[in-house]
Amino acid sequence: MFTNKTFIITGIADKNSLAMFVAKKIIDNGGSVICTGLGVSEFHTNLSDKAKAFLDTNYSDFEKAVKNELGDVQTEILDVTIEESVDAFARKLKENNIKVNGFLHAIAMDKTIRQKVVKPLLEVTRDEFCDTMDVSAYSLIRITSYLYKYELMRPNSSICSLSYIAASKVTFHPYRNMSVAKAALERITIELADELGRKNGTRANIVRFSPYMGSKAGTATLNQSDFDTANKLSPLGNATPDDLANEVIHLFRPNGRITGEIRHVDGGYNIMG
Ligand SMILES: NC(=O)c1ccc[n+]([C@@H]2O[C@H](COP(=O)([O-])OP(=O)(O)OC[C@H]3O[C@@H](n4cnc5c(N)ncnc54)[C@H](O)[C@@H]3O)[C@@H](O)[C@H]2O)c1
Repeated sequence: MFTNKTFIITGIADKNSLAMFVAKKIIDNGGSVICTGLGVSEFHTNLSDKAKAFLDTNYSDFEKAVKNELGDVQTEILDVTIEESVDAFARKLKENNIKVNGFLHAIAMDKTIRQKVVKPLLEVTRDEFCDTMDVSAYSLIRITSYLYKYELMRPNSSICSLSYIAASKVTFHPYRNMSVAKAALERITIELADELGRKNGTRANIVRFSPYMGSKAGTATLNQSDFDTANKLSPLGNATPDDLANEVIHLFRPNGRITGEIRHVDGGYNIMG
């Protein structure tokens, strides 16, 4: 299905990242992937020792996981909060004559969730609000704009992002600050679907997925009881990362006509009152 097709996969931290399941499925279906990981780039300045150590560990975990799970795949550093990092990544692809058929946005960060405790919105500072928006929502615009700037997106490409029901409903596990960023990410997806569809036939969609505790982000935010509650309330039970990957693959399929959609891969959780 994906012969001669290449997708950029963002958001792999380790083998349990949702993005890893998507990358594997693209390769299983004959496609290629370029994986990006968060690490120290030449554009990071004034990093504390602690921050540098965190980023170094993150990048080496990412590289190890990609090698073990996906084999010989191109890996690149990408920090979406640093404009020069996104520019350098896209420029490098251009210099290597690489064109892509789309990308997966699987990036989120919210410092107002610490050890599964969520700050009330009233206590969220402007900086915390803007940081979460920057990493988790604006990054979709930033990545897309640089892929277009360097003319890397083939006609009829497909972009897919990951969201959660909390973008539109207050859930039993209130995300607060992150919910606002997810709502923005969903709206950005819809606006891009219009802009890019008319530009060169590119589709943009977003998938709301069930709670998943396997990843670093999931472990940091969810309690087992959150997972269990969603599992019980969903008519089909919680969806799995494999279910998610199948849907993303479907949206990445060449010549599809689905765009601007907010899909639910959540075992039907979203229909419950
Ligand atoms: N885990 C869940 O329950 C769940 C449910 C629905 C949607 N999602 C969404 O799925 C996506 C992937 O999450 P996951 O559960 O696989 O967790 P994960 O921790 O494996 O992935 C989050 C990724 O964001 C990356 N990231 C953070 N800041 C970055 C930056 N500045 N630049 C580049 N990358 C950065 C991290 O390195 C990591 O790879 C996220 O958007 C998340 O909100 C997760």
